[in-house]
Amino acid sequence: MHRLWVAALPTLLWGCGAWAQDKTLDEIARYRAQLQDGNPAELWEARGEDVWKQKRGPKKASLEQCDLGKGPGVVKGAYAELPRYFADAGRVMDLESRLVHCMGTRQGIPHAEAAGRVFGSGSKRSDIEALTAWITSESKGVVMNVSLDHPQVKQAYNLGEKMFFFRGGPHDFACATCHGESGKRIRLQDLPNLTEKKGAQLGYTTWPAYRVSQGELRTFQWRLNDCFRQQRFPDLVFGSELSIALTTYLAYNANGAAFNAPAIKR
Ligand code: HEC
Repeated sequence: MHRLWVAALPTLLWGCGAWAQDKTLDEIARYRAQLQDGNPAELWEARGEDVWKQKRGPKKASLEQCDLGKGPGVVKGAYAELPRYFADAGRVMDLESRLVHCMGTRQGIPHAEAAGRVFGSGSKRSDIEALTAWITSESKGVVMNVSLDHPQVKQAYNLGEKMFFFRGGPHDFACATCHGESGKRIRLQDLPNLTEKKGAQLGYTTWPAYRVSQGELRTFQWRLNDCFRQQRFPDLVFGSELSIALTTYLAYNANGAAFNAPAIKR
């Protein structure tokens, strides 16, 4: 199915007149703008704040002292500086892996339980969606400011960049195959050019997002995993070094843009 669409892309892109393209894009933009009113992500945000403050797990502790990089318990603006290096864990972490870490160290919740269900659906939802919804909402409007000063973050960025252009799988796709040119589209989804500042900013700062088609809030790790699927790659391991490397690459490239999520998407 996807193969057909990708094969049909040149026809879609160059076969239609520019006018029809613009008109469709206008319509999509209008639909998206309408969706922004009354985003159900607010329900996840409210639940996330609650989960953050609840005493849970074998240690009966809350996450309120979890350090997201700006000091224990500081949530405001924290997401705009992630991923970053965390000395207490000895590695670079994005928000989601940091939350799993804090659930383990502060609450005693085993890794498998904290991380196991993020890519699941429906009733299998985890707390990570709610927590990321709330924490990211506390960075809304904050300008993205990821630093590569720490050598491990720089290393993660380099690995992420390499991965972005790495071709493989049955179709020999790289992320760049679908996201390396402007104006590409699959069905009605326009594909942001993530190799350009504008595209990276748009593609990064609008996640997590409430997916109307799935009735679920989806995180950035989920977005990456879904594109691994698009790419016919094996499943992404949640919170893996590679997932954080790709996130670092895209987050850094979004620097300078105001963070604008949780968003709502089709
Ligand atoms: C076969 C084409 C294809 C490949 C390969 C692919 N993607 Fe995607 N990507 C898509 C499509 C289609 C969407 C939009 C999906 C939707 O809206 O449902 C998307 C959306 C995204 C978005 C969100 C953009 C936004 O504005 O919401 C990001 C970020 C992203 N991809 C990153 C990646 C990364 C990183 C890789 C490589 C690991 C990758 N993609 C590989 C097709 C692809």
